[in-house]
Amino acid sequence: MRARVFPGYEAMSAAAAGVIARRLGEDPSAVLMLPTGTTPLGMYRHLSTMHRAGEVSFERATFFNLDEYLGLRPDHRASYHVYMKEHFYGLIDADPARIFVPDGAAPDPEAECERYEAAIREAGGIDVCVLGIGRNGHIGFNEPGAPFDSRTRVVTLSESTRLVNAGDFEANRAPQRALTVGMATIFESKEVLLLASGTNKARAVAVAVEGDVSESVPASMLKRHPNAGLFLDEDAASDLGSGVAG
Ligand code: F6R
Repeated sequence: MRARVFPGYEAMSAAAAGVIARRLGEDPSAVLMLPTGTTPLGMYRHLSTMHRAGEVSFERATFFNLDEYLGLRPDHRASYHVYMKEHFYGLIDADPARIFVPDGAAPDPEAECERYEAAIREAGGIDVCVLGIGRNGHIGFNEPGAPFDSRTRVVTLSESTRLVNAGDFEANRAPQRALTVGMATIFESKEVLLLASGTNKARAVAVAVEGDVSESVPASMLKRHPNAGLFLDEDAASDLGSGVAG
């Protein structure tokens, strides 16, 4: 896993947007897998600006999101459907027929996960998967302990993840469960780009990069990936080489 450290969040976000734009330049019908959260907001902003300037088109691309809360309707203000529409899909020329976000309100969530996994297969797999990282090392909503051979499925969120995301919900209560793309599905992506910003990610980054490959640190799986990159700002890189992972 190649790590690149950027002087700040803006530089990291611009570089991440550059990776996506270049890939779409080479292959306009590329299949992307995308995260929500705070970290990718800068990347989405850069990509939307590039789109407005005529520098990149998403018309033929296919989009899959990594995850969604179980029980949230697509129009719930804290849903990842709404997040993606506001911050990215609604600002670019994406074809709605090629935008996939797991349906958190599906009557049969297990069937929804199978449908999602099949849609990824039908699209020919993921070309570029962009990830954030949780403070506990999660990727997507694959919490510590997620099997490396897991597929898209319903998962229980860890207390720490629910706490971090509580502010998005009424009475500060995040849902207990979510739908997430699995570890094996992420691993099969041709290219993976993990973004991390801020000191509150520094420890997770150091453990993932410098510790053992272990299901207890989901992001550590990426060290076995043939084409995984890690884009960090200086704060997120600040525990690297400190021995914290040992
Ligand atoms: C969200 C997702 C999560 C986040 C992670 C970091 O779709 O997959 O794994 O990437 O929790 O979130 P932020 O960027 O908010 O720190």
